[in-house]
Amino acid sequence: MNRRDAIKLTAAALSVSVSSSAFATKSLRVLILGGTGFIGPHFVEALSARGHTLTLFNRGKRNAALFPKIETLIGDRNGELDALRDGNWDVVIDNSGYVPRHVRLSAELLKERAERYIFVSSISAYANLTKPGIDEDYPTATLPDPSVEQVNGETYGGLKALCEKAVEQAFGARATILRPTYIVGPGDHTDRFTYWPVRVARGGEMLAPGTPKDPIQFVDVRDLTDFTRACVEEGITGRFNICNPPREVTIGELLEISKRITKADTKFRWADEAFLESNKLLDSGEIPIWSPTKGEYAGAALVNPARAIARGLHFRDAATTVTDTLSWHRTRPAEEQKLRAGLTPEREAELLSKLTG
Ligand SMILES: NC(=O)c1ccc[n+]([C@@H]2O[C@H](COP(=O)([O-])OP(=O)(O)OC[C@H]3O[C@@H](n4cnc5c(N)ncnc54)[C@H](OP(=O)(O)O)[C@@H]3O)[C@@H](O)[C@H]2O)c1
Repeated sequence: MNRRDAIKLTAAALSVSVSSSAFATKSLRVLILGGTGFIGPHFVEALSARGHTLTLFNRGKRNAALFPKIETLIGDRNGELDALRDGNWDVVIDNSGYVPRHVRLSAELLKERAERYIFVSSISAYANLTKPGIDEDYPTATLPDPSVEQVNGETYGGLKALCEKAVEQAFGARATILRPTYIVGPGDHTDRFTYWPVRVARGGEMLAPGTPKDPIQFVDVRDLTDFTRACVEEGITGRFNICNPPREVTIGELLEISKRITKADTKFRWADEAFLESNKLLDSGEIPIWSPTKGEYAGAALVNPARAIARGLHFRDAATTVTDTLSWHRTRPAEEQKLRAGLTPEREAELLSKLTG
């Protein structure tokens, strides 16, 4: 999500926890719709390491050579599903569903030939993120025109909510809906989390948003992977928010952890919400991950993940995520190291010169 809204995965970028590297007691047939983007490869590595038999379905455009040993069916969710006409699976993982019609097509086609369907949705599926403590029973977003298929910041959440409904209509109690907040860590090509440790590493005076105590929420892609693997193996169904517990990590802690790890001389200059708003920084993508503590997004970093935690969602510490994200970032080709999110050095210098105190 955002506030409105050739990955190169090295072996080091993919970390399967010790407990998950042993073979599962029962080998399952798992179909992944997608599998070669950001989170897909983490799922593929973790499930393969457990001895499950995987099939990928995608268009063969993105990182097509990533998994030469895994069966890959070529098609397009936009109606070209012939490659899925035959076959049976224990579990489908759908991490490429953005358009309800596409999701309905695959869910209806597979409902008699797959036992369960796991859909990767988003916390953007909620009607709003204004209140702290939103749990899975909170109302979901609606769209003025539910037939719209254009995915953008305005429609993303409402479309995700309709995708969820399509899965639940086809699979009923056999559906699992995962609603992650920002998914971060090695392979995250959005740079929304990566920006912060990379910027801290550069040193000097740095603009920091809000106050050091402001909460932030995210999930390391490897923790999402562990939970998804548990859903596959243990038959966990239902709807789950996927994020770290509210106030477990603050923006101040993320920056201090990054400073300690990178041994940088960075000096943080905190810009309050009024400053950020008056400089049009709240919706520009220049201040990623952090959310304003008042107004429309006051609950965006205070979502309640208790239900998933009760079913085993766990979190590596933020220092590990920072260290591994930086290690991965340094392996990226120079062109990809130009960050897609955050402030440019020029823009930051301009803002710092306006910031008094
Ligand atoms: N990144 C986040 O912070 C975040 C947060 C919350 C939720 N999510 C959700 O997480 C999910 C996965 O994210 P991601 O970043 O890993 O996705 P991604 O990088 O966009 O990966 C997409 C995968 O799906 C395939 N694909 C795309 N369009 C297709 C089509 N029309 N037909 C068949 N295959 C298609 C791609 O391969 P080809 O291009 O070769 O077809 C690729 O394997 C998404 O559902 C997203 O909404 C992400």
